[in-house]
Amino acid sequence: MQKYLIEILECPKCHGKLDWNITDQTTDRIETAQILCTHCSGSYSIQDGIGVFLTTDLKRNDLWEQVDGLEQHLKQNPGLEERLMDVPLDTLGPVDQHYRGVVHESRGDIEAANAAYSISKKAMYSADTTRCVDSQMDYLINEVSQSNSPIVDLASGECGLVRRMLKDLPNLIVVTDFSPSVLVRNRKWLMEQGLYDRVSLLAFDARQTPFAADSISLLTTHAGLNNIQNPGKLLEELYRIVNGKFIAVSSFYPEDDKENGAVIEEGGLAEVCYRDKLLEHFHNAGWVFEVKNSCSIKANPAPPGVVLEGARVDGLPVQSTYLEWCVLLGTNA
Ligand SMILES: C[S@@+](CC[C@H](N)C(=O)[O-])C[C@H]1O[C@@H](n2cnc3c(N)ncnc32)[C@H](O)[C@@H]1O
Repeated sequence: MQKYLIEILECPKCHGKLDWNITDQTTDRIETAQILCTHCSGSYSIQDGIGVFLTTDLKRNDLWEQVDGLEQHLKQNPGLEERLMDVPLDTLGPVDQHYRGVVHESRGDIEAANAAYSISKKAMYSADTTRCVDSQMDYLINEVSQSNSPIVDLASGECGLVRRMLKDLPNLIVVTDFSPSVLVRNRKWLMEQGLYDRVSLLAFDARQTPFAADSISLLTTHAGLNNIQNPGKLLEELYRIVNGKFIAVSSFYPEDDKENGAVIEEGGLAEVCYRDKLLEHFHNAGWVFEVKNSCSIKANPAPPGVVLEGARVDGLPVQSTYLEWCVLLGTNA
């Protein structure tokens, strides 16, 4: 974690001041530290350069831990490994291709990983979907490009948006997710690609962040809000920490779509996957916001994995539907 962040970090639970016991550092980074809240004794850490500011109060459904288990699963099932890794890429279905990419990436073969991701993405998403989603990123990049401030990206996952921002913008970037597993993977490839210099990695739950009030002038997320289960006061928490812009690429489901609706409800995602509900949260939290660059596109579920039987990349949609993609542009300055 880069040191400039120390002055804007506080206890995610009670907002108390933090006491830093740094045991390994370089000129601009902290590699290892134990961190204690001086008010509630909450305990956090920096491990291998990654700040971990998770609390025990919020339940976490960390799907990346399962992806981490894939390598182990293949080791225990050499036949499966052969069927996934040793066959021509184009004989696999899109979900298996995607997970083959994950394995290549975890083994440090970024070129093979990118080839697998690219062919899988082409099969999973229509050209119209790709165009529509890419245009949201273009819009976001254009909005962000007007400022040199550090950018905090929420729910960064595998860094789809972060990769674009690193390519197109000079800003410092804080990559965040509530999954330490995905951040460990991100750190590895960022280093391998020579992209780590401008990046800090922080694990925290977006509903309970470790940032001081008004400490962030640029907050972004790409398909982040739509994945935050049981969001509760999420938009209020984000309003608390931002003094500037929040730019969120989001997608919305039609409210009368029963099959997808059942999965949305079951996953605690209704407040973030339906337009009216999410916008009401923005409004109630005090954001001044606009919906920009909206486009409606047909989305089809990808057929589940065959080699990795039943595996999925996206939990939704489970049934073909029309999604509205857009950029939510919030300000509270
Ligand atoms: C679809 S991915 C986001 C894609 C990513 N932003 C990109 O540009 O490629 C959703 C991410 O949200 C993370 N997530 C889900 N709930 C979260 C929460 N409450 N706080 C922080 N991250 C969360 C998941 O771990 C996952 O990595």
